[in-house]
Amino acid sequence: MEGTIHILSLSLLLILSLAQAGELTNPKCAKFHQDNNKDSTTLQVLHVNSPCSPLKQQQKYTSWVDNVLQMQSKDTNRLQFLASLVAGRSFVPIGSGRQILQTPSYIVKAKIGTPPQTLMVALDNSNDFSWFPCSGCVGCSSTVFASTKSTTFNNVSCERAVCSLVPKRDCDAGTCTFNLTYGNSNIGGGLSVDTFALSADPVPQFNFGCIRKATGSSAPPQGLLALGRGSLSFMSQADSLYKSTFSYCLPSYKSPNFSGTLRLGPKGQPLRIKTTPLLRNPRRSSFYYVNLVGVKVGKAIVKIPPSALAFNPNTGAGTIIDSGTVFTRLVEAAYTAVRNEFRRRMGRNTTVTSLGGFDTCYTVPITIPTITLMFAGMNVTLPQDNFLIRSSSSTTTCLAMAASPADPVNSVLNVIASWQQQNHRILFDVPNSRVGVAREACS
Ligand SMILES: *[C@@H]1O[C@H](CO)[C@@H](O)[C@H](O)[C@H]1NC(C)=O
Ligand SMILES: *[C@@H]1O[C@H](CO)[C@@H](O)[C@H](O)[C@H]1NC(C)=O
Ligand SMILES: *[C@@H]1O[C@H](CO)[C@@H](O)[C@H](O)[C@H]1NC(C)=O
Ligand SMILES: *[C@@H]1O[C@H](CO)[C@@H](O)[C@H](O)[C@H]1NC(C)=O
Ligand SMILES: *[C@@H]1O[C@H](CO)[C@@H](O)[C@H](O)[C@H]1NC(C)=O
Repeated sequence: MEGTIHILSLSLLLILSLAQAGELTNPKCAKFHQDNNKDSTTLQVLHVNSPCSPLKQQQKYTSWVDNVLQMQSKDTNRLQFLASLVAGRSFVPIGSGRQILQTPSYIVKAKIGTPPQTLMVALDNSNDFSWFPCSGCVGCSSTVFASTKSTTFNNVSCERAVCSLVPKRDCDAGTCTFNLTYGNSNIGGGLSVDTFALSADPVPQFNFGCIRKATGSSAPPQGLLALGRGSLSFMSQADSLYKSTFSYCLPSYKSPNFSGTLRLGPKGQPLRIKTTPLLRNPRRSSFYYVNLVGVKVGKAIVKIPPSALAFNPNTGAGTIIDSGTVFTRLVEAAYTAVRNEFRRRMGRNTTVTSLGGFDTCYTVPITIPTITLMFAGMNVTLPQDNFLIRSSSSTTTCLAMAASPADPVNSVLNVIASWQQQNHRILFDVPNSRVGVAREACS
Protein backbone atom coordinates (compact mmCIF):
# COMPACT_ATOMS: atom_id res chain seq x y z
CA MET A 1 0.00 0.00 0.00
CA GLU A 2 2.70 2.41 1.03
CA GLY A 3 4.69 1.45 -2.06
CA THR A 4 1.74 2.37 -4.25
CA ILE A 5 1.52 5.77 -2.62
CA HIS A 6 5.21 6.38 -3.24
CA ILE A 7 4.94 5.44 -6.90
CA LEU A 8 1.86 7.63 -7.23
CA SER A 9 3.52 10.63 -5.68
CA LEU A 10 6.63 10.06 -7.80
CA SER A 11 4.63 10.01 -11.02
CA LEU A 12 2.69 13.02 -9.84
CA LEU A 13 5.95 14.86 -9.30
CA LEU A 14 7.06 13.90 -12.76
CA ILE A 15 3.81 15.14 -14.27
CA LEU A 16 4.10 18.35 -12.32
CA SER A 17 7.66 18.98 -13.51
CA LEU A 18 6.76 18.25 -17.12
CA ALA A 19 3.68 20.43 -16.84
CA GLN A 20 5.74 23.21 -15.35
CA ALA A 21 8.22 23.09 -18.22
CA GLY A 22 5.39 23.32 -20.77
CA GLU A 23 3.62 26.07 -18.93
CA LEU A 24 6.72 28.24 -18.73
CA THR A 25 7.38 28.06 -22.46
CA ASN A 26 3.78 28.91 -23.36
CA PRO A 27 3.75 32.67 -24.06
CA LYS A 28 0.03 32.83 -23.22
CA CYS A 29 0.91 31.93 -19.66
CA ALA A 30 3.33 34.81 -19.22
CA LYS A 31 0.58 37.11 -17.97
CA PHE A 32 -0.11 34.78 -15.09
CA HIS A 33 3.50 34.35 -14.16
CA GLN A 34 4.63 37.93 -14.21
CA ASP A 35 4.55 39.60 -10.84
CA ASN A 36 1.29 41.17 -9.80
CA ASN A 37 1.10 44.62 -11.21
CA LYS A 38 1.87 47.35 -8.71
CA ASP A 39 -1.31 48.86 -7.28
CA SER A 40 -3.41 46.38 -9.21
CA THR A 41 -6.16 44.72 -7.24
CA THR A 42 -7.21 42.58 -10.21
CA LEU A 43 -5.64 39.15 -10.22
CA GLN A 44 -5.60 36.39 -12.79
CA VAL A 45 -7.69 33.36 -11.86
CA LEU A 46 -6.83 30.04 -13.45
CA HIS A 47 -8.64 26.76 -13.56
CA VAL A 48 -6.45 24.27 -11.74
CA ASN A 49 -6.18 22.19 -14.93
CA SER A 50 -5.59 25.11 -17.27
CA PRO A 51 -2.59 24.86 -19.59
CA CYS A 52 -0.98 27.65 -17.52
CA SER A 53 -1.57 26.02 -14.15
CA PRO A 54 1.52 24.64 -12.48
CA LEU A 55 -0.79 22.32 -10.56
CA LYS A 56 -2.51 20.73 -13.53
CA GLN A 57 -2.68 16.98 -13.53
CA GLN A 58 -2.68 14.48 -16.32
CA GLN A 59 -6.26 14.21 -17.52
CA LYS A 60 -7.86 10.81 -17.75
CA TYR A 61 -9.63 11.57 -21.02
CA THR A 62 -8.35 13.29 -24.12
CA SER A 63 -11.45 15.42 -24.33
CA TRP A 64 -11.77 18.17 -21.78
CA VAL A 65 -15.55 17.89 -21.70
CA ASP A 66 -15.27 14.24 -20.79
CA ASN A 67 -12.97 15.19 -17.95
CA VAL A 68 -15.45 17.80 -16.81
CA LEU A 69 -18.20 15.19 -16.88
CA GLN A 70 -16.17 13.18 -14.41
CA MET A 71 -16.13 16.15 -12.05
CA GLN A 72 -19.83 15.73 -11.44
CA SER A 73 -19.33 12.61 -9.37
CA LYS A 74 -16.77 14.38 -7.20
CA ASP A 75 -19.14 17.32 -6.83
CA THR A 76 -21.50 15.12 -4.86
CA ASN A 77 -18.97 14.96 -2.08
CA ARG A 78 -18.60 18.72 -1.88
CA LEU A 79 -22.37 19.00 -1.67
CA GLN A 80 -22.44 16.47 1.15
CA PHE A 81 -19.69 18.45 2.84
CA LEU A 82 -21.54 21.77 2.50
CA ALA A 83 -24.78 20.14 3.65
CA SER A 84 -23.07 18.69 6.70
CA LEU A 85 -21.76 22.15 7.60
CA VAL A 86 -25.33 23.42 7.58
CA ALA A 87 -26.52 20.45 9.61
CA GLY A 88 -23.68 21.03 12.04
CA ARG A 89 -22.52 17.43 11.74
CA SER A 90 -19.07 16.29 10.83
CA PHE A 91 -18.74 14.91 7.35
CA VAL A 92 -17.62 11.40 6.61
CA PRO A 93 -17.37 10.85 2.88
CA ILE A 94 -19.04 7.76 1.49
CA GLY A 95 -16.49 5.18 0.38
CA SER A 96 -13.71 7.35 1.71
CA GLY A 97 -10.47 7.09 -0.17
CA ARG A 98 -12.07 6.25 -3.49
CA GLN A 99 -14.45 9.13 -3.86
CA ILE A 100 -12.81 12.41 -3.19
CA LEU A 101 -14.17 15.81 -2.55
CA GLN A 102 -14.08 18.09 -5.54
CA THR A 103 -11.18 20.36 -4.77
CA PRO A 104 -12.06 23.97 -5.50
CA SER A 105 -11.16 24.34 -9.16
CA TYR A 106 -9.78 27.86 -9.35
CA ILE A 107 -6.40 29.08 -8.20
CA VAL A 108 -4.71 32.47 -7.75
CA LYS A 109 -1.16 33.43 -7.04
CA ALA A 110 -0.44 34.57 -3.50
CA LYS A 111 2.66 35.79 -1.68
CA ILE A 112 3.39 34.83 1.89
CA GLY A 113 6.19 35.59 4.34
CA THR A 114 9.24 37.88 4.40
CA PRO A 115 10.88 37.66 1.91
CA PRO A 116 7.70 36.69 0.01
CA GLN A 117 7.21 33.12 -1.19
CA THR A 118 4.74 32.25 -3.96
CA LEU A 119 1.86 29.79 -3.52
CA MET A 120 -0.95 28.92 -5.95
CA VAL A 121 -3.89 28.87 -3.60
CA ALA A 122 -7.40 27.57 -4.29
CA LEU A 123 -10.33 29.99 -3.98
CA ASP A 124 -13.14 28.88 -1.69
CA ASN A 125 -15.88 31.38 -0.97
CA SER A 126 -17.74 28.98 1.33
CA ASN A 127 -14.96 28.69 3.92
CA ASP A 128 -13.54 31.09 6.52
CA PHE A 129 -10.29 29.47 7.53
CA SER A 130 -7.30 29.68 5.15
CA TRP A 131 -4.55 27.11 5.38
CA PHE A 132 -1.30 26.42 3.61
CA PRO A 133 1.15 23.52 3.79
CA CYS A 134 4.16 24.49 5.92
CA SER A 135 7.78 23.47 6.47
CA GLY A 136 8.12 19.96 7.81
CA CYS A 137 4.57 18.98 6.88
CA VAL A 138 4.04 15.24 6.79
CA GLY A 139 1.76 14.26 3.91
CA CYS A 140 1.71 17.59 2.07
CA SER A 141 2.67 18.06 -1.59
CA SER A 142 6.16 19.13 -2.57
CA THR A 143 5.56 22.87 -2.59
CA VAL A 144 5.17 24.20 0.92
CA PHE A 145 5.51 27.54 2.60
CA ALA A 146 8.96 27.47 4.23
CA SER A 147 7.79 29.12 7.44
CA THR A 148 11.25 28.75 8.97
CA LYS A 149 12.67 31.07 6.26
CA SER A 150 10.20 33.86 6.95
CA THR A 151 11.29 36.54 9.41
CA THR A 152 7.68 37.66 10.01
CA PHE A 153 6.24 34.20 10.74
CA ASN A 154 4.87 33.45 14.21
CA ASN A 155 2.84 30.80 15.95
CA VAL A 156 -0.29 32.13 17.66
CA SER A 157 -0.54 31.51 21.39
CA CYS A 158 -3.58 29.80 22.90
CA GLU A 159 -4.45 32.91 24.89
CA ARG A 160 -5.23 34.94 21.80
CA ALA A 161 -8.98 35.38 21.20
CA VAL A 162 -8.55 34.36 17.55
CA CYS A 163 -7.65 30.85 18.74
CA SER A 164 -11.29 30.27 19.68
CA LEU A 165 -12.25 30.56 15.99
CA VAL A 166 -10.23 27.62 14.65
CA PRO A 167 -11.79 24.17 14.20
CA LYS A 168 -11.10 21.51 16.88
CA ARG A 169 -8.65 23.75 18.62
CA ASP A 170 -6.14 22.50 21.08
CA CYS A 171 -3.08 23.81 22.83
CA ASP A 172 0.37 22.40 22.17
CA ALA A 173 3.07 23.89 24.42
CA GLY A 174 1.20 27.19 24.52
CA THR A 175 0.62 27.27 20.75
CA CYS A 176 -2.89 27.22 19.25
CA THR A 177 -3.42 24.12 17.09
CA PHE A 178 -6.31 22.93 14.92
CA ASN A 179 -7.58 19.83 13.19
CA LEU A 180 -10.06 19.74 10.37
CA THR A 181 -11.67 17.43 7.87
CA TYR A 182 -11.81 18.52 4.27
CA GLY A 183 -13.39 15.90 2.03
CA ASN A 184 -11.44 12.75 2.70
CA SER A 185 -8.47 14.67 4.11
CA ASN A 186 -7.57 15.20 7.73
CA ILE A 187 -5.50 18.29 8.23
CA GLY A 188 -3.77 19.37 11.38
CA GLY A 189 -1.40 22.16 12.26
CA GLY A 190 -0.89 25.36 14.14
CA LEU A 191 -2.65 28.70 13.94
CA SER A 192 -0.03 31.13 12.67
CA VAL A 193 0.46 34.68 11.50
CA ASP A 194 2.54 36.09 8.69
CA THR A 195 2.40 38.76 6.01
CA PHE A 196 0.11 37.65 3.20
CA ALA A 197 -0.57 39.38 -0.12
CA LEU A 198 -2.77 38.80 -3.12
CA SER A 199 -2.22 42.23 -4.63
CA ALA A 200 0.57 44.71 -4.09
CA ASP A 201 -0.89 45.50 -0.65
CA PRO A 202 0.27 43.05 2.00
CA VAL A 203 -1.94 42.04 4.91
CA PRO A 204 0.38 41.97 7.93
CA GLN A 205 -0.30 39.51 10.75
CA PHE A 206 -2.66 37.43 8.64
CA ASN A 207 -4.08 34.51 10.64
CA PHE A 208 -3.99 31.16 8.84
CA GLY A 209 -3.47 27.49 9.50
CA CYS A 210 0.06 26.21 9.00
CA ILE A 211 -0.43 22.57 8.02
CA ARG A 212 2.01 20.18 9.69
CA LYS A 213 0.22 16.96 8.93
CA ALA A 214 -2.20 15.91 6.18
CA THR A 215 -3.80 12.67 5.11
CA GLY A 216 -6.08 11.93 2.16
CA SER A 217 -6.24 13.50 -1.26
CA SER A 218 -8.87 16.23 -1.05
CA ALA A 219 -6.82 19.17 0.15
CA PRO A 220 -5.73 21.60 -2.57
CA PRO A 221 -1.96 21.05 -2.88
CA GLN A 222 -0.82 24.58 -2.08
CA GLY A 223 -3.58 25.48 0.30
CA LEU A 224 -6.91 27.17 0.51
CA LEU A 225 -7.76 30.85 0.43
CA ALA A 226 -10.96 31.32 2.41
CA LEU A 227 -13.16 34.07 0.96
CA GLY A 228 -16.22 33.34 3.13
CA ARG A 229 -18.07 35.88 5.26
CA GLY A 230 -16.88 34.85 8.72
CA SER A 231 -14.47 36.84 10.89
CA LEU A 232 -11.47 34.58 10.21
CA SER A 233 -11.77 34.76 6.40
CA PHE A 234 -9.31 36.61 4.21
CA MET A 235 -11.97 39.17 3.26
CA SER A 236 -12.66 39.95 6.94
CA GLN A 237 -8.99 40.14 7.88
CA ALA A 238 -8.26 42.37 4.89
CA ASP A 239 -11.37 44.46 5.49
CA SER A 240 -9.45 47.74 5.85
CA LEU A 241 -7.97 47.17 2.36
CA TYR A 242 -10.88 45.64 0.45
CA LYS A 243 -13.97 46.60 2.49
CA SER A 244 -15.38 43.04 2.30
CA THR A 245 -16.00 43.55 -1.39
CA PHE A 246 -14.77 41.36 -4.22
CA SER A 247 -15.82 39.99 -7.55
CA TYR A 248 -14.67 37.24 -9.81
CA CYS A 249 -15.19 36.18 -13.37
CA LEU A 250 -14.59 32.45 -13.71
CA PRO A 251 -13.20 31.48 -17.10
CA SER A 252 -15.19 29.24 -19.41
CA TYR A 253 -14.58 25.53 -19.07
CA LYS A 254 -14.50 25.45 -22.88
CA SER A 255 -11.72 27.98 -23.23
CA PRO A 256 -8.25 26.50 -23.52
CA ASN A 257 -6.85 29.74 -22.13
CA PHE A 258 -8.79 29.45 -18.90
CA SER A 259 -7.97 32.75 -17.34
CA GLY A 260 -10.45 34.85 -15.43
CA THR A 261 -10.02 37.53 -12.80
CA LEU A 262 -10.48 38.13 -9.10
CA ARG A 263 -11.00 41.82 -8.30
CA LEU A 264 -10.55 42.96 -4.71
CA GLY A 265 -12.16 46.01 -3.13
CA PRO A 266 -14.93 48.40 -4.20
CA LYS A 267 -12.72 50.16 -6.75
CA GLY A 268 -13.16 49.04 -10.34
CA GLN A 269 -16.28 46.98 -9.68
CA PRO A 270 -19.01 47.20 -12.34
CA LEU A 271 -21.40 50.06 -11.67
CA ARG A 272 -24.14 48.76 -13.89
CA ILE A 273 -24.87 45.31 -12.59
CA LYS A 274 -28.06 43.49 -11.63
CA THR A 275 -28.15 42.75 -7.93
CA THR A 276 -30.06 40.69 -5.40
CA PRO A 277 -29.93 41.06 -1.61
CA LEU A 278 -27.17 39.14 0.16
CA LEU A 279 -28.57 37.22 3.11
CA ARG A 280 -26.84 36.19 6.31
CA ASN A 281 -27.79 32.86 7.75
CA PRO A 282 -26.69 32.44 11.38
CA ARG A 283 -26.83 28.69 10.87
CA ARG A 284 -23.89 29.03 8.50
CA SER A 285 -22.40 32.48 8.71
CA SER A 286 -19.61 31.85 6.18
CA PHE A 287 -21.90 31.22 3.18
CA TYR A 288 -23.08 33.84 0.71
CA TYR A 289 -26.83 33.23 0.73
CA VAL A 290 -29.20 34.75 -1.80
CA ASN A 291 -32.92 34.36 -2.31
CA LEU A 292 -33.68 32.16 -5.32
CA VAL A 293 -37.41 32.61 -5.79
CA GLY A 294 -38.01 30.61 -8.96
CA VAL A 295 -36.74 29.12 -12.20
CA LYS A 296 -38.08 29.76 -15.67
CA VAL A 297 -37.74 27.22 -18.48
CA GLY A 298 -38.59 29.01 -21.69
CA LYS A 299 -41.44 31.33 -20.78
CA ALA A 300 -42.91 29.02 -18.16
CA ILE A 301 -42.26 29.61 -14.49
CA VAL A 302 -41.66 26.13 -13.12
CA LYS A 303 -44.00 25.08 -10.29
CA ILE A 304 -41.57 24.47 -7.44
CA PRO A 305 -42.81 23.84 -3.89
CA PRO A 306 -41.92 27.09 -2.03
CA SER A 307 -40.30 25.11 0.79
CA ALA A 308 -37.65 23.81 -1.66
CA LEU A 309 -36.33 27.31 -2.24
CA ALA A 310 -37.13 29.01 1.07
CA PHE A 311 -34.42 30.69 3.10
CA ASN A 312 -34.57 29.40 6.65
CA PRO A 313 -32.23 30.71 9.37
CA ASN A 314 -33.22 27.86 11.68
CA THR A 315 -32.26 25.00 9.39
CA GLY A 316 -29.69 26.73 7.18
CA ALA A 317 -31.88 26.02 4.15
CA GLY A 318 -31.64 28.34 1.17
CA THR A 319 -29.47 29.10 -1.83
CA ILE A 320 -25.75 29.86 -1.82
CA ILE A 321 -23.32 31.01 -4.50
CA ASP A 322 -20.32 28.69 -4.33
CA SER A 323 -17.11 28.75 -6.37
CA GLY A 324 -15.98 25.28 -5.31
CA THR A 325 -18.86 23.19 -6.69
CA VAL A 326 -18.86 22.65 -10.45
CA PHE A 327 -22.52 21.95 -11.29
CA THR A 328 -25.56 23.63 -9.78
CA ARG A 329 -27.56 21.47 -7.40
CA LEU A 330 -31.16 22.09 -6.45
CA VAL A 331 -32.93 20.27 -3.65
CA GLU A 332 -34.73 17.23 -4.99
CA ALA A 333 -38.23 18.74 -5.32
CA ALA A 334 -36.89 21.82 -7.12
CA TYR A 335 -34.60 19.91 -9.44
CA THR A 336 -37.28 17.39 -10.40
CA ALA A 337 -39.69 20.18 -11.30
CA VAL A 338 -37.11 22.04 -13.43
CA ARG A 339 -35.96 18.87 -15.15
CA ASN A 340 -39.52 17.75 -15.89
CA GLU A 341 -40.35 21.09 -17.47
CA PHE A 342 -37.14 20.93 -19.52
CA ARG A 343 -38.04 17.41 -20.68
CA ARG A 344 -41.62 18.41 -21.43
CA ARG A 345 -40.29 21.09 -23.78
CA MET A 346 -38.42 18.43 -25.72
CA GLY A 347 -41.63 16.63 -26.61
CA ARG A 348 -42.76 13.19 -25.68
CA ASN A 349 -41.06 11.49 -28.60
CA THR A 350 -37.55 12.58 -27.73
CA THR A 351 -35.75 9.87 -25.79
CA VAL A 352 -34.09 10.97 -22.58
CA THR A 353 -30.78 9.31 -21.73
CA SER A 354 -28.33 9.79 -18.89
CA LEU A 355 -24.60 10.42 -18.75
CA GLY A 356 -22.55 10.23 -15.58
CA GLY A 357 -24.59 11.91 -12.87
CA PHE A 358 -26.76 13.79 -15.36
CA ASP A 359 -30.24 12.38 -15.93
CA THR A 360 -31.53 14.63 -18.70
CA CYS A 361 -29.48 14.03 -21.83
CA TYR A 362 -30.33 13.82 -25.51
CA THR A 363 -28.48 12.18 -28.37
CA VAL A 364 -30.52 13.86 -31.10
CA PRO A 365 -30.48 17.55 -32.00
CA ILE A 366 -32.91 19.37 -29.74
CA THR A 367 -34.49 22.80 -29.61
CA ILE A 368 -33.17 24.24 -26.41
CA PRO A 369 -35.36 26.45 -24.21
CA THR A 370 -33.83 29.28 -22.19
CA ILE A 371 -33.31 28.89 -18.46
CA THR A 372 -33.72 31.87 -16.15
CA LEU A 373 -32.76 31.86 -12.49
CA MET A 374 -35.14 34.21 -10.71
CA PHE A 375 -33.62 35.83 -7.65
CA ALA A 376 -35.28 38.47 -5.49
CA GLY A 377 -35.09 41.59 -7.68
CA MET A 378 -32.88 39.99 -10.35
CA ASN A 379 -33.52 37.57 -13.19
CA VAL A 380 -30.49 35.88 -14.70
CA THR A 381 -31.10 34.24 -18.07
CA LEU A 382 -28.28 31.79 -18.62
CA PRO A 383 -26.51 31.40 -21.95
CA GLN A 384 -26.70 27.79 -23.21
CA ASP A 385 -23.06 27.17 -22.27
CA ASN A 386 -24.05 27.80 -18.65
CA PHE A 387 -26.69 25.09 -18.41
CA LEU A 388 -25.74 22.52 -21.04
CA ILE A 389 -22.80 20.22 -21.32
CA ARG A 390 -22.04 18.65 -24.65
CA SER A 391 -19.89 15.57 -24.81
CA SER A 392 -17.40 15.76 -27.64
CA SER A 393 -16.98 12.04 -28.11
CA SER A 394 -20.66 11.53 -28.81
CA THR A 395 -23.48 13.83 -29.78
CA THR A 396 -24.86 13.83 -26.26
CA THR A 397 -26.15 17.07 -24.73
CA CYS A 398 -27.10 17.13 -21.06
CA LEU A 399 -28.81 19.54 -18.73
CA ALA A 400 -25.80 20.46 -16.54
CA MET A 401 -27.58 20.46 -13.17
CA ALA A 402 -28.53 17.81 -10.67
CA ALA A 403 -30.44 17.18 -7.47
CA SER A 404 -28.72 17.81 -4.15
CA PRO A 405 -27.68 14.57 -2.51
CA ALA A 406 -29.91 13.11 0.19
CA ASP A 407 -27.04 11.33 2.00
CA PRO A 408 -25.47 11.41 4.56
CA VAL A 409 -27.56 14.40 5.61
CA ASN A 410 -30.56 15.50 3.61
CA SER A 411 -29.32 18.58 1.81
CA VAL A 412 -31.45 21.65 2.29
CA LEU A 413 -29.04 23.72 0.20
CA ASN A 414 -29.41 24.91 -3.35
CA VAL A 415 -25.94 25.61 -4.67
CA ILE A 416 -25.34 27.90 -7.65
CA ALA A 417 -22.08 26.44 -8.90
CA SER A 418 -19.20 27.46 -11.15
CA TRP A 419 -20.54 26.00 -14.44
CA GLN A 420 -23.50 28.34 -14.11
CA GLN A 421 -21.21 31.26 -13.16
CA GLN A 422 -18.58 31.00 -15.90
CA ASN A 423 -18.19 34.09 -18.07
CA HIS A 424 -20.21 36.17 -15.61
CA ARG A 425 -18.86 38.68 -13.14
CA ILE A 426 -20.17 37.81 -9.69
CA LEU A 427 -19.91 40.65 -7.20
CA PHE A 428 -19.97 40.04 -3.45
CA ASP A 429 -20.68 43.37 -1.80
CA VAL A 430 -21.05 42.79 1.94
CA PRO A 431 -21.25 46.46 3.07
CA ASN A 432 -24.22 47.00 0.75
CA SER A 433 -25.61 43.50 1.38
CA ARG A 434 -25.88 42.54 -2.25
CA VAL A 435 -24.68 40.07 -4.81
CA GLY A 436 -24.34 41.27 -8.39
CA VAL A 437 -24.32 39.30 -11.63
CA ALA A 438 -23.30 40.58 -15.06
CA ARG A 439 -22.30 38.75 -18.20
CA GLU A 440 -18.64 39.21 -19.03
CA ALA A 441 -16.55 37.31 -21.57
CA CYS A 442 -13.55 36.90 -19.35
CA SER A 443 -11.91 34.03 -21.18
C1 LIG B 1 5.91 27.09 15.58
O1 LIG B 1 5.43 25.79 15.93
C2 LIG B 1 6.08 24.73 15.26
C3 LIG B 1 5.35 23.44 15.60
O2 LIG B 1 5.14 23.33 16.96
C4 LIG B 1 7.55 24.73 15.63
O3 LIG B 1 8.20 23.69 14.95
C5 LIG B 1 8.15 26.08 15.22
O4 LIG B 1 9.50 26.15 15.64
C6 LIG B 1 7.39 27.24 15.82
N1 LIG B 1 7.89 28.48 15.23
C7 LIG B 1 8.11 29.59 15.90
C8 LIG B 1 8.60 30.75 15.13
O5 LIG B 1 7.92 29.66 17.10
C1 LIG C 1 -5.22 16.44 15.82
O1 LIG C 1 -4.72 15.27 15.22
C2 LIG C 1 -3.52 14.77 15.80
C3 LIG C 1 -3.11 13.55 15.04
O2 LIG C 1 -3.25 13.73 13.68
C4 LIG C 1 -3.74 14.44 17.26
O3 LIG C 1 -2.52 14.07 17.84
C5 LIG C 1 -4.29 15.66 17.96
O4 LIG C 1 -4.60 15.34 19.28
C6 LIG C 1 -5.54 16.17 17.27
N1 LIG C 1 -5.99 17.39 17.93
C7 LIG C 1 -7.28 17.63 18.18
C8 LIG C 1 -7.56 18.93 18.82
O5 LIG C 1 -8.15 16.84 17.91
C1 LIG D 1 -6.95 32.30 -26.33
O1 LIG D 1 -6.04 33.41 -26.35
C2 LIG D 1 -5.68 33.84 -27.62
C3 LIG D 1 -4.66 34.96 -27.49
O2 LIG D 1 -4.26 35.15 -26.19
C4 LIG D 1 -6.91 34.32 -28.36
O3 LIG D 1 -6.57 34.74 -29.67
C5 LIG D 1 -7.92 33.18 -28.45
O4 LIG D 1 -9.11 33.65 -29.04
C6 LIG D 1 -8.23 32.66 -27.06
N1 LIG D 1 -9.10 31.49 -27.17
C7 LIG D 1 -10.26 31.41 -26.55
C8 LIG D 1 -11.05 30.18 -26.83
O5 LIG D 1 -10.68 32.24 -25.76
C1 LIG E 1 -44.77 10.67 -31.65
O1 LIG E 1 -44.65 9.32 -32.07
C2 LIG E 1 -45.89 8.71 -32.41
C3 LIG E 1 -45.66 7.24 -32.70
O2 LIG E 1 -44.39 6.99 -33.21
C4 LIG E 1 -46.49 9.45 -33.62
O3 LIG E 1 -47.73 8.88 -33.99
C5 LIG E 1 -46.68 10.93 -33.25
O4 LIG E 1 -47.14 11.65 -34.36
C6 LIG E 1 -45.37 11.51 -32.74
N1 LIG E 1 -45.62 12.87 -32.23
C7 LIG E 1 -44.85 13.91 -32.53
C8 LIG E 1 -45.25 15.21 -31.91
O5 LIG E 1 -43.90 13.84 -33.28
C1 LIG F 1 -38.40 38.28 -13.46
O1 LIG F 1 -39.23 37.55 -14.32
C2 LIG F 1 -40.57 37.42 -13.85
C3 LIG F 1 -41.31 36.48 -14.77
O2 LIG F 1 -41.11 36.77 -16.11
C4 LIG F 1 -41.19 38.80 -13.78
O3 LIG F 1 -42.52 38.72 -13.29
C5 LIG F 1 -40.36 39.66 -12.85
O4 LIG F 1 -40.86 40.99 -12.81
C6 LIG F 1 -38.92 39.69 -13.27
N1 LIG F 1 -38.13 40.35 -12.25
C7 LIG F 1 -37.28 41.33 -12.52
C8 LIG F 1 -36.55 41.92 -11.39
O5 LIG F 1 -37.09 41.73 -13.67
